[in-house]
Amino acid sequence: DKMRVAGRLAADVLDMIEDFVKPGVSTNELDEICHKFIVEEQGATPAPLNYRGFPKSVCTSVNEVICHGIPDSRPLQEGDIINIDVTVYYDGVHGDTSVTFPVGEVTERDIQLIKETRKAMDLGIEAVKPGRPVNVIGRAIERHAKRHSLGVVREFIGHGVGTEFHSSLQIPHYYDPYASTEILPGMTFTIEPMLTLGDPSAQMWSDNWTASTRDGRRTAQFEHTILVLEDGAKRLTVTPVSY
Ligand code: MF3
Ligand code: CO
Ligand code: CO
Repeated sequence: DKMRVAGRLAADVLDMIEDFVKPGVSTNELDEICHKFIVEEQGATPAPLNYRGFPKSVCTSVNEVICHGIPDSRPLQEGDIINIDVTVYYDGVHGDTSVTFPVGEVTERDIQLIKETRKAMDLGIEAVKPGRPVNVIGRAIERHAKRHSLGVVREFIGHGVGTEFHSSLQIPHYYDPYASTEILPGMTFTIEPMLTLGDPSAQMWSDNWTASTRDGRRTAQFEHTILVLEDGAKRLTVTPVSY
C-alpha cells in the first residue's frame, strides 16, 4: 500500500513537469521545479539527491545520453529528446519512473524511437506472470526492439525497489538465460528499457554518472515501478493522466 502511494507521487511529478519541457528551459530549471514540487507540495524526498554522490534531484538525459544525466545550465533546443527520471521516497518506500519527452518538433525517426521504447516497456510489463523467470521480460523487450531495428542497452537494468532504491533483484532488458529468478506475487521492481537508434554500447562520462551511446546516436527510455499480482503486473507509477 505504501508503494502505491510512492508510485503515484513519482508519476505526479512527471505529469507536473511535462508542461515545462520546452525549447529554452535548462535542465537545471526542470530539476529545481521538480525538487520544489516533491519537497514542498508532496512532503516527499527526491531519492537521487546525494544518492552515492549524485548532485541533483532528478536525472535528465538528453539525446545521446542513455541515463543518469546530471541537470545543468544547457537550455533545451527544438528537436531534442529528453528523459526525465523521477524517484521519490515517501513513508519509507520508493517510487521510480521515467518518461522520454520530445522538445518541440522532432524527427519522424525520433518519434518512432520514443514510441517503440514505450511499447517495449509495455510488452516487458505484460510478460510478467508469477511462476515465470524474470528473463521473460528482457526477451519480450528485445524481440520488439529487433523488430524495429533498435538496439537494447545492456549496461543498465531494472531493479527491485521498495524500502531500498535499488535492491539486489536484477531485471535485464535483453534475454539473459541466467536471469532465472522466479517472479512471485508481492514483488516490486522496475522495468526501464533504454533503446537506441544505433549501436547500444554505452560509455561513461568523466562525471562518473552520465552514460551516453558510444556512437553518439540517440536513445530513449521509459520506466515504471510494478507490483506483481496473481494475474500479472500492476503499474504503480501511473496517474489518471497517465503515461
Ligand atoms: N532512477 C534511476 C533508476 O531508474 C536511478 C538514478 S540514480 C541517480 O534506477 F543517482 F542517478 F539518481
Ligand atoms: Co529505476
Ligand atoms: Co529511475
